[in-house]
Amino acid sequence: MLTNTSQVLLRNIQFIENQNVLILNHEADALAVELLDAAASVTALALDFNHHQLLAKHNKPNFHAHFGHELPADAKLQTFDAVVIYFPKAKALAPYLFQLAAKHLSIGGTLIVIGENKGGVKSLAKLLPNYYSTALKRDNARHCLLFVAELNQDAPQLNINDWVSKYQLATPQGEITICNLVGVFSEKKLDQGTELLLSHLPNLSGRVLDFGCGAGVISAAMLKANSSLNVECIDINAMALKACELTLAANNMIAKVYPSDGFKQISGQFDGIISNPPFHDGLAATTQIAKDFVKSSANSLSNNGVWQIVANRNLPYADTIAAEFGQVNVPAENNKYKLYFFHK
Ligand SMILES: C[S@@+](CC[C@H](N)C(=O)[O-])C[C@H]1O[C@@H](n2cnc3c(N)ncnc32)[C@H](O)[C@@H]1O
Repeated sequence: MLTNTSQVLLRNIQFIENQNVLILNHEADALAVELLDAAASVTALALDFNHHQLLAKHNKPNFHAHFGHELPADAKLQTFDAVVIYFPKAKALAPYLFQLAAKHLSIGGTLIVIGENKGGVKSLAKLLPNYYSTALKRDNARHCLLFVAELNQDAPQLNINDWVSKYQLATPQGEITICNLVGVFSEKKLDQGTELLLSHLPNLSGRVLDFGCGAGVISAAMLKANSSLNVECIDINAMALKACELTLAANNMIAKVYPSDGFKQISGQFDGIISNPPFHDGLAATTQIAKDFVKSSANSLSNNGVWQIVANRNLPYADTIAAEFGQVNVPAENNKYKLYFFHK
């Protein structure tokens, strides 16, 4: 099943016929593999680990699937005849993708941008940097738009540090430096839910999971309080994982940072699980990820382990927590957020 945006790209397959194509920020389908029928080669870069998993299982000639904020080292300098960008749900990420695309396009190469009408692609002509020609709307179907432009000249060198928002944060655990990246949660300032969580951080020891680490705010605070913790930071989002690595480095801290979709790539038991868990899936708000998180984390908590999350007080967590842990402890709350705590 293809997403609406992918269906619109498929209707316009003439733009990539016999081309070496790079696809950036693709969605949750395997259109990239289908494009092999027309393209000379297809390389896909997912910024969402779940989307990457859908392509990673396909082993085909002239097909490469990667996950990350950029192509891996051995493909970093590769150029393509055409680059397709799926316009990001987080609009702030779009300029980064435009520059990344330009880095991998040959001069005169084709940029194709597709996105949902409601997602911000409408203003593409205004957003596209001047190293591209004017973006022309070439299709409008299934509530999606498709634009085409050409790379006219070399873009400035892409340096990830140019996309970092760096700020100092005074936490109850001490002062930490946050390095966040475009499109990542709480890009410019601390989230109020995370603030409540940090102001009541329980005592932790041993192996501790920061689930949905974002820019690594919680991990950095935990390590500030206790540098001997064995912290693991997971997120589904490539920009978040990179930001988390930058935050840890800026504070001279060490933790294991790796992609995971929910608990799928996490193994073993934890002495502590701490999170401001996600409640969005793309443009739609959903509590399902959070519910899955409660269930999986209950299974991953070792005996005597400590579990604490913060959630919007309107989200119906209490029933799931009661079902999994047999009790609901709320150590702190305010008019927007609640903390939930469990000691096994
Ligand atoms: C509410 S934010 C919290 C970020 C950070 N811990 C903080 O407090 O600033 C939730 C994070 O979960 C990540 N996320 C969303 N869906 C996920 C999934 N299925 N598996 C793992 N992480 C996910 C998001 O990318 C986001 O960084």
